[in-house]
Amino acid sequence: MLKILVIHGPNLNLLGKREPGIYGATTIDEINKKLRQYAKEKGASLEIFQSNHEGEIVDKIGSAKKKFGALLINPAAYTHTSVAIRDAIAATAIPAVEVHLSNIYSREDFRHTSLTAPVVKGQISGFGIDSYMYGIDAAIKIALTSQ
Ligand code: DQA
Repeated sequence: MLKILVIHGPNLNLLGKREPGIYGATTIDEINKKLRQYAKEKGASLEIFQSNHEGEIVDKIGSAKKKFGALLINPAAYTHTSVAIRDAIAATAIPAVEVHLSNIYSREDFRHTSLTAPVVKGQISGFGIDSYMYGIDAAIKIALTSQ
């Protein structure tokens, strides 16, 4: 069965309580449940990892190469700051999709730059939880086409 690694970056553990006007009222556990169910229907299984620590995310990406067909990542605030996470994705050369709940381009200027976008296949931003659902579809597709 196709395996996809899902990584949630910093503060996404607070979803549901965190700025619900921007990020919605759904908790990370609810998102993960929906994601697993949706992936299963599409014939894929997920490993889901959340961390508030840059180095842990780098390590997780680094260990993903042979184990997963694709990476779905919401790097959260690290999107805008982390050369290390960008380099880990590039080094691992795993087909990757970047997702954001909010539309990062309609928010503060500092969110308009994604350091990770150039090393992923594509980015989905602004559709709330559906960004993740579209992201799963995209991750499955790029995993199958890059085999
Ligand atoms: C986010 C957008 C980022 O700018 C922010 O730092 C986050 C969440 C999103 O999903 O909309 O933590 O990645």
